[in-house]
Amino acid sequence: MSKAFHIAVIPGDGIGPEVVEQGLRVLERVAAIEGFTARVTRYPFGAEHFLKTKEVLPDPAFEEIRGHDAILLGAIGDPRVAVGHLEFGIIARLRFGLDLYVNLRPVKLYAAHLCPLKDKRPEDVDFVVVRENTEDAYAGMYGYFKKGTPDEIATQEILFTRKGTERAIRYAFELARKRNRAKKLTLVDKANAVRAMDLWTRTFEEVGREYPDIAREHAYIDAATMWCVKNPEWFDTVVTSNMFGDILTDLAAMIQGGLGVAASGNLHPGRVSLFEPIHGSAPKYAGKNVANPIATVMAVSMMLDYLGEPRAAQRIEETVAGLLRSKRIPSLGSDSGLSTRAVGDLVVESLERAKVPA
Ligand code: IPM
Ligand code: MG
Repeated sequence: MSKAFHIAVIPGDGIGPEVVEQGLRVLERVAAIEGFTARVTRYPFGAEHFLKTKEVLPDPAFEEIRGHDAILLGAIGDPRVAVGHLEFGIIARLRFGLDLYVNLRPVKLYAAHLCPLKDKRPEDVDFVVVRENTEDAYAGMYGYFKKGTPDEIATQEILFTRKGTERAIRYAFELARKRNRAKKLTLVDKANAVRAMDLWTRTFEEVGREYPDIAREHAYIDAATMWCVKNPEWFDTVVTSNMFGDILTDLAAMIQGGLGVAASGNLHPGRVSLFEPIHGSAPKYAGKNVANPIATVMAVSMMLDYLGEPRAAQRIEETVAGLLRSKRIPSLGSDSGLSTRAVGDLVVESLERAKVPA
């Protein structure tokens, strides 16, 4: 009997539903080729649903979603709703509620012409960022004192736990070993100014001793952004805290061709995990059939790899890489001249021919 996966899908806001639609067509096609099935349950959460019902992500739905094998999310965020309300109620709720402690963000350039950096080739831009995903300033411990007065004080805790730091770092060492490329892990922090990050320094050293085959490197976040532009080939596997990872991976997305290709996995190894494009809901392009769905297609690829279907994952990746190299998909923005659906068509039609190991 072929394997059957149950996928919870939250298309969300803005361009989310359009790009997810194409991601699901690719999923269905690759499943047929590789011989498994994917059963999809759609959830309506996002701005439209919130404005109609005042519901963000109700508990029973959260529990139901938890029962799936994986979650595919489009994008969340809408100018009609207060800043952060849906982001925290849906994205953060899933990340924290499901304890998805790793945010895995591959940075891979598929075709040299997509890179804004001079003289960088695909072999120069191929690294992966392991972003800690459940702590730091995102823990939601904030408050105001004397709010709205000239004496107002606002605070938000940047918090790190030994457990949270260690599990992200350990995941990253394992990944550096599994990638088997430069066998190098770079810790990115700001321990020179944020002294609480000494916890990262010490944990990295301690855990690192268990991985003598992996070289340990270090860069402060400010320097890391500089290296990312100047010498991206210097990176293989990177591990960093939640907020630095958020910032670094938007920059990194640009050197791999833009947010139109960048995908991420929010993982708790062994448990239900969530996959999404890194880009946002881009309200100004919503409903216009111009958004590029490739990042979501790549999120589907990551999801299948996670679910134990590496051939299907590779088939999608090879297909996308081929279409980008040949310029049949000429760019990754909304200006490619191809509609959202047309890009989906190209991927779906080309999957069969992708070269994957038997
Ligand atoms: C991301 C996003 C989110 C984050 C926002 C939407 C809360 O920027 O996934 O990188 O900051 O984590
Ligand atoms: Mg971000």
